[in-house]
Amino acid sequence: MPNTTASISRRKFAKLLGAGAACAVASPGIARTGSLFSGAETRPAAGFTNAANVVRLSANENPYGPSPMAIKAMTESFSLSCRYPDDHAEVLIDTLAKINGVSRDQILIADGSGEILKLCAAAFTGPMSTTTNRAVELAPRSRGGAMPAFVPGRGKMIVADPTFEAILNHARVNMADVVKVPLNASFGHDVSKMLSAASEGLIYICNPNNPTASITPKNEMRELLRKAPRETTVLVDEAYHHYADSADYESVIPLIKDHSNLIVARTFSKIFGMAGLRLGYCVAQPQTIQRLRPHQTWDSVNIMAMVAAIASLNDADHVTNGQRLNSETKKFALGELEAMGFKSIPSQANFIMIDLKRPARPMLDGLRQRNVQVGRLFPALPNHMRVTIGKKPEMEAFLSAFRQVTGTV
Ligand SMILES: Cc1ncc(COP(=O)(O)O)c(C=O)c1O
Repeated sequence: MPNTTASISRRKFAKLLGAGAACAVASPGIARTGSLFSGAETRPAAGFTNAANVVRLSANENPYGPSPMAIKAMTESFSLSCRYPDDHAEVLIDTLAKINGVSRDQILIADGSGEILKLCAAAFTGPMSTTTNRAVELAPRSRGGAMPAFVPGRGKMIVADPTFEAILNHARVNMADVVKVPLNASFGHDVSKMLSAASEGLIYICNPNNPTASITPKNEMRELLRKAPRETTVLVDEAYHHYADSADYESVIPLIKDHSNLIVARTFSKIFGMAGLRLGYCVAQPQTIQRLRPHQTWDSVNIMAMVAAIASLNDADHVTNGQRLNSETKKFALGELEAMGFKSIPSQANFIMIDLKRPARPMLDGLRQRNVQVGRLFPALPNHMRVTIGKKPEMEAFLSAFRQVTGTV
């Protein structure tokens, strides 16, 4: 894509991206940047010193970075920064619809999947005293088509404990009640207890679950969707989908056609290594997507994230390489920990939850003093510690600090 081009047609853009992707593969110089194969560390830009000697295993990021094709596409798109990203959004939505086997009006892209969580809380939770179900007309957008009428959210939020907590805050800000249901003995969502708590509102299922890295088996997910009341929306957060390889796991995207109350959230922050770029999306039936739109900022996704995402989706190797590296390094770390007598919850993600058999706080402090950052304390599992799977040298640094703190040196 020529740098001087600041306005392009949708078809031309898609074609150029294809060419750029092929060029990235052919050019070893470009392929090296941030590559899975380079072993290069991600370094802070000038003026940002924080990461210099800190081993960061705290945020379930992908240490191998974005696809080389994504980096090339972004580099070649800087000059497009002066344009609103309409054409790019069209191409990305088309691509995501094709990949997921749905129509374009079943996809909503967002500023990270975190924004999808916020939109769901806004649209489907709120105080039960909200009785207005009169649709409020909204101004049409100058670009991007008509805005659907807005209906205020109502109902409670039902979540597992522990789970990814951002959505709890969004529900609370929306003045909704939050019901926490402890995970079951296998660290799956307790589907029958969540169902018995359900009425109007939203059930949030994180599968695989953060922070436990555990899955809720497919038969239980199907049962949940079959039995959930129609006035309850079910949001399944599949942020770690690409890391799950258990025969008991399945994505519920193919079940959307049968469930108008199902929304599935996905992110480019994990396997695609784009956490800093901020891009996520959800898939649902068209009328459910329309309930979310009025809550969203217009043009909330930036153009760099979009070009990077489209290029990443064209990189056939990126996902498989990321899966392989994660699983090899996870196996190594788990083996070393087991040799020291520490077991973990079976992990279907790019992080592990280690059973320390004692309160985790002193370990978290000891690791921090040794410049190793791991997950925060999770009150529901006070003896467990969440550690992101980094590159092998990072895991070696973690294990060395862990040995020092436990006195197993
Ligand atoms: C389960 C889960 N959902 C959503 C998110 C937010 O991801 P994003 O970067 O797409 O906003 C995270 C981030 O760690 C997560 O763990």
